[in-house]
Amino acid sequence: MALIRRSLPHIGGTARAVVYGDRVKIALMDSGLGLLAAAAALRRLRPDAGLVLSSDPAGMPWGPRTPEDVVGRALAVARAAAAHRPDALIVACNTASVHALPALRAALEPGLPVIGTVPAIKPAAAGGGPVAIWATPATTGSPYQRDLIRTFAASVDVTEVPCPGLADAVEHADEAGIERAVGAASDRTPREVRTVVLGCTHYELVGERIRAALLRRGLPEVRLYGSADAVAAQALRRLGETAASSATAAAEPGELTVLLSGRRASLPDPALTYAEGRLLAAVTRVH
Ligand code: DGL
Repeated sequence: MALIRRSLPHIGGTARAVVYGDRVKIALMDSGLGLLAAAAALRRLRPDAGLVLSSDPAGMPWGPRTPEDVVGRALAVARAAAAHRPDALIVACNTASVHALPALRAALEPGLPVIGTVPAIKPAAAGGGPVAIWATPATTGSPYQRDLIRTFAASVDVTEVPCPGLADAVEHADEAGIERAVGAASDRTPREVRTVVLGCTHYELVGERIRAALLRRGLPEVRLYGSADAVAAQALRRLGETAASSATAAAEPGELTVLLSGRRASLPDPALTYAEGRLLAAVTRVH
């Protein structure tokens, strides 16, 4: 593949001129399959981009772990991704972002721009309340989430709903487990709620099931707020890149590199039970 030299706009205050492959390459990290939502959003925006998906199937779920443990595991997964020389790293995980973003930035920036994912409380509250925030136990009640609520949702009623077991059920495409965990979280969501923040990237893969479970519980059609589209767009902005022109979109799709606990692998089978995983498998260049 030809190498070209591109200069980028200011990143972190310093202008950079770096040698790149001829395609932008973006890495995403998570405990597991939650990264599929932002990866698919990037694929839709830039089919030509190379994607590196780095996760920790042996260590997931991160949600029940201590903050120190989450930081250690997040650093390991990020370093595995960084070894593939991406242009940017998306932390496609709310749990890692609320606990490990400073450590990840200290370890990798300014050489590698790091883009975090936090629960979409600001846009959700701007749309009016009452709001429920579904998230992992480690994100729920974290100082970071509490601060987002104080800053952006002070004028609406907010209920934090921890969803133990939901991320692992989604990870394994465990239908019965998903139904159970979604049902339990729906039962803890007040009936007045009109807006639900999906504060864990795994939950974005089952948004329609969450909506259906809330309808069954007697809530009206709720608005769901995930982060995938915003985070994908933010990563491109940070790199001075734009969405694909029709010519780029028609070009050969970018490579997909999957790293499971640092080792190259294929997309795990459960990924293909989600539309996002099927999109990535279909629009990809295997090398
Ligand atoms: N997908 C992750 C998040 O956004 C973590 C899920 C887990 O491993 O518990 O929080």
